[in-house]
Amino acid sequence: MTATLIDGKQIAEALRREIAQSVAELKDRHNVTPALAVVLVGDDPASQVYVRSKLKQTVEAGMRSIEYVLPGTIAQSDLVACIRTLNADHDVDGILVQLPLPGHIDADAVIAELDPAKDVDGLSDLNAGRLASGKSGLLSGIVPCTPLGSLMLVKSVRQDLSGLEAVIIGRSNLFGKPMAQLLLQESCTVTIAHSRTADLPAVCRRADILIAAVGRAEMVKSDWLKPQAIVIDVGINRISLPEGKTKLVGDVDFAAARLHAQAITPVPGGVGPMTLACLLGNTLKAARLRRRLDV
Ligand code: GUN
Repeated sequence: MTATLIDGKQIAEALRREIAQSVAELKDRHNVTPALAVVLVGDDPASQVYVRSKLKQTVEAGMRSIEYVLPGTIAQSDLVACIRTLNADHDVDGILVQLPLPGHIDADAVIAELDPAKDVDGLSDLNAGRLASGKSGLLSGIVPCTPLGSLMLVKSVRQDLSGLEAVIIGRSNLFGKPMAQLLLQESCTVTIAHSRTADLPAVCRRADILIAAVGRAEMVKSDWLKPQAIVIDVGINRISLPEGKTKLVGDVDFAAARLHAQAITPVPGGVGPMTLACLLGNTLKAARLRRRLDV
């Protein structure tokens, strides 16, 4: 049997349409246009591509986008000054600092500067803490975009996740940890696996829901999968092909896994579009929360 393909592109498109509708309502009723500021430091080509997509989709959803491109040599204090200016600007609802930052910058210290009410990545201590203590519902807290989008993809296959075994490979603050919190809230039994996990294939074989976020091309093999698992591939890796060509692949050996799983996300076209759509959703949420508006 071949797994169902989880079409992140289509699900994200539907979500973006809903968000655009809500943005239009917010404008009509309250004369508010949510604004997202994206801060890009340096000239990493992959980050430039992501930032361009974020800004384009922000405008397409009817929101305002503001781009700050800062030199890769910027001093920590100047970057912090930029964040403080955005924090103080009443018209800015969301601030996203594109990661990774250059090596000389202390990313944690920069994230700590973000006003949690504008932290649309959900990375600040307050937002991470709210998520960990189950207080990031409709009316408070902002949840990181990629885990939020990944959960939506899982739930597009199956609504009730209660009692399922979920295994996440990867323990980052940006993905693995918040993903675990979200699945815990769905009453899954959650394991976070990582580079030191013993017998990773055996751990993965327990998973009804397997989520791979390691950044290693096609590392997860089909014999690591429990039959009928739901597989979410968060990896985006560029691999070399003959004749100087390249190709994007995920962390899962997709062609083989497709023969074992119940449902699987493609790369590209799976998690990526959901991250962007959830960023728009978080910006809208931040705009409402900051003004105490429920519509
Ligand atoms: N770089 C890769 N993914 C992300 C993300 O979700 N947020 C930010 N700020 N940077 C990223």
